[in-house]
Amino acid sequence: MCYAIPGRVVDISGRTAVIDYFGERRRAYIDLLEDVAIGDSVYAQGGFLIRKISQKEADEVLKTWEDIFFKLKEQDKKLAHNPKNLYERANAIRQEHQDNSCCVHGIIEFSNFCRCDCFYCGIRNGNKDLRRYRMEIPEILSAVDEAVSHGFQALVLQSGEDPYYSDDKLEGIVQNIRARHPVLIFVSVGERSADAYKRMYDAGARGVLLRFETSNQEIYKKIKPASSMDLRLNLIRSLKDIGYLVVTGFLIGLPGQRADDIMKDIKTTSDLGAEMFSFGPFIPHPQTPLATEKAPSLKKVLDAVANARIMNPSAKILVTTALETMWGIDGAKSALMAGANSLMINVTPEKYRLLYDIYPGRFGTGIKIPEHIDMVVGLLRSIGRAPTDLSI
Ligand code: 5AD
Repeated sequence: MCYAIPGRVVDISGRTAVIDYFGERRRAYIDLLEDVAIGDSVYAQGGFLIRKISQKEADEVLKTWEDIFFKLKEQDKKLAHNPKNLYERANAIRQEHQDNSCCVHGIIEFSNFCRCDCFYCGIRNGNKDLRRYRMEIPEILSAVDEAVSHGFQALVLQSGEDPYYSDDKLEGIVQNIRARHPVLIFVSVGERSADAYKRMYDAGARGVLLRFETSNQEIYKKIKPASSMDLRLNLIRSLKDIGYLVVTGFLIGLPGQRADDIMKDIKTTSDLGAEMFSFGPFIPHPQTPLATEKAPSLKKVLDAVANARIMNPSAKILVTTALETMWGIDGAKSALMAGANSLMINVTPEKYRLLYDIYPGRFGTGIKIPEHIDMVVGLLRSIGRAPTDLSI
């Protein structure tokens, strides 16, 4: 199984290539791939050309797609036809602007040490009951090898804010991965200097995941008393300036949060120029100061998905693991039918998954990677989506 359809380069001008997929044309940046020429078969992810493949390999993969490529699109179109309510309207907008493509990224959580003490988060420094782990470079590389062997082409590398990983070390991790595999790397390592992020970018990372958590100052001060919302927002802006694809967003259901806060969070995510929206329910964790608070309803989260889509027709909107944790695969389906179009699969080595305990009962901690892939691909096919990343 492959999470992208190979295309053929039909034109190149400056930093951009035009790629043909079964007669449909898309554009992608070429700065991660040297030596590309018209006629080459390539994979693209997140708007970047990432890998050149032989004609023979391309033909083999394309054969598995040619039958269903247009059938899935048709089914998706049918499901998005004649929208009647908020969710259906959002879904129709998604279909019109983003077609049926859905990115499926892998995520590797390489350390659960965290110097922060965020009130909502189970891996906060103050949680002394949690067994901590960190992966060294060889272990990270073998997790990447495994993910790549399952077909992932875009990977998120996430950790708590762990000072053990110096700027040099982080740069080295990105360099090592890029030297082994032409994957699109997203880094998610919290608040680091813009310089540290620039070094990871120069080493080959092109995406970054950093949520601002809430755009309400009052709530921010209550849930992250030791840090500044403005500094965090400014860091996200600097990351955009460096050239990163920015994935950002917020938590839904924080104590004191109102419906208009969520609308402002959506607006803030767009204003930050997010390529992908990542927001999900706050889930109370027993070893945190917010242990006795309540998680939000599914309706509240789906309303946010639909509103985010209506306000941002061309964004990618992620179905978060927190949503899957609360409402399972049916919840994921509902979100995909209310405007969402991206998913992540946890590819952290199994022995660590439960320890990345940001909230309890995380979805996917007990599932083998191939099983999880089958589940996601099955879900996508059932609603006419293709696990591809064709659009920019
Ligand atoms: N519930 C839901 N999401 C959480 N995160 C941290 N703790 C929780 C929780 N209790 C999210 C934060 C963080 C991301 C890595 O995980 O939004 O940015």
